[in-house]
Amino acid sequence: MTKSYWIKDLSLSGLGRKKIYWAEQEMPILTSIRERFSVEKPLKNLKIGACLHITKETAVLVRTLREAGAEVYLCASNPLSTQDDVAAALVDEGFHVFGWRGMSQREYYECIGYVLSSQPNITIDDGADLVSSIHKLYYNTLADEISLIKNITGELSGREILKNIMGGSEETTTGVYRLKSLAREGKLLYPIIAVNDALSKSLFDNPIGTGQSAIDGVIRATNTLIAGKDVVVVGFGRVGSGIASRCRGLGARVTIVEVDPINALRAAMDGFRVESMLTASKHGEIFITATGNINVIRREHFQVMKDGVILANAGHFDVEICKKDLEELSKMVEKTSDHITTYVMEDGRRLHLLGDGRLVNLACAEGHPSSVMDMSFSLQALSAEYIVKNFKNLPREVIPVPREIDLLVARLKLKSMGLELEEMTEEQKRYLESWYLGT
Ligand SMILES: NC(=O)c1ccc[n+]([C@@H]2O[C@H](COP(=O)([O-])OP(=O)(O)OC[C@H]3O[C@@H](n4cnc5c(N)ncnc54)[C@H](O)[C@@H]3O)[C@@H](O)[C@H]2O)c1
Repeated sequence: MTKSYWIKDLSLSGLGRKKIYWAEQEMPILTSIRERFSVEKPLKNLKIGACLHITKETAVLVRTLREAGAEVYLCASNPLSTQDDVAAALVDEGFHVFGWRGMSQREYYECIGYVLSSQPNITIDDGADLVSSIHKLYYNTLADEISLIKNITGELSGREILKNIMGGSEETTTGVYRLKSLAREGKLLYPIIAVNDALSKSLFDNPIGTGQSAIDGVIRATNTLIAGKDVVVVGFGRVGSGIASRCRGLGARVTIVEVDPINALRAAMDGFRVESMLTASKHGEIFITATGNINVIRREHFQVMKDGVILANAGHFDVEICKKDLEELSKMVEKTSDHITTYVMEDGRRLHLLGDGRLVNLACAEGHPSSVMDMSFSLQALSAEYIVKNFKNLPREVIPVPREIDLLVARLKLKSMGLELEEMTEEQKRYLESWYLGT
């Protein structure tokens, strides 16, 4: 079955174009890479299959990939994160875009099917749904989503899809976990660059981008005052630590729930209260999960929460806050605004879930600020170029972004901010490399 695009409403393209322009102004590194790509055409005649949040920042990335010579097929990496006006603008520019805000699970996988039908040479994923679909097709795994994808890809086998693929890249922590699990089982079929783990991504996008935008999502959905609130952040990794410090900056009293002793200790020494989920559930007013794990807030926690609490998730999938338990405990469930579902418990307490438990920064706000995505998506563009130049020598593993690319992105960002970097003298370089010079 073929379709060159599948979006909500093409007539929204005018607004989408203005939003992309806005993002582009804040993405100087990616646009400078685009200028080079437009001359060198490193992705000439290649097809890129991308499964990303369809946002204005992603639009700047796909324009860059096209300028490099690629034909881009883009599907949504989350059913609630697509900016429909941006999707329309991209289709208007001739991109193959598949996704809209509020798509069903079935439509989500059918859209992945359309991207796979293009038989891409490079995959760019956010959460590994595209890559895991390729692997499930290849290994003939029985799964509901695979039948949906096969409805679209038809006779095309996993083997045929795989034969064109040179390599791929992964944007987020949860995707990298999934890919490493495939690699551990010896089943990963092609090399994938873990863009998420580059320092110029994970030290900025995860804590600072998500830190700001997750709170933006909570505020846009509820207009609640953060100052003075009792906020519980579940997970003090890269994302959670950013959310926690920004909540504190806005005047909240912040408690951390962690399973990792080192990260729990970091939180404690950063001055946060550290508690179990059950203890924190009894006093928290706003709960934000950022663990990448399943059912971290569940039945026994909902049972002791106060009336009127706000529940939000910043982790990749909508599994961190157990919606099934919420439903089973409720005598009534009502949509109280575009972004809020209120669960009324048997005893009358009301628990408010934001954005259906999906990434609150994308479901209830606009996702990360463009300026931080400038770094993450520059890494994506440069990783695609790296794959094309090196794919014959890359192992079928999850591989790091080459150090020189990571440093280049940081250098370019500093330059774009008008900041100076100190240079080491030759004497200093020799000193740091020497074992001989001591006291
Ligand atoms: N919203 C966004 O735009 C966005 C951006 C980047 C990453 N993410 C997602 O956010 C999630 C977290 O990413 P990260 O980079 O911070 O990962 P991370 O591995 O650095 O941190 C996760 C933390 O959660 C802790 N944890 C795991 N299970 C827990 C539990 N049951 N209770 C309490 N703590 C628990 C871990 O010990 C770890 O410290 C992932 O799903 C990632 O894909 C979302």
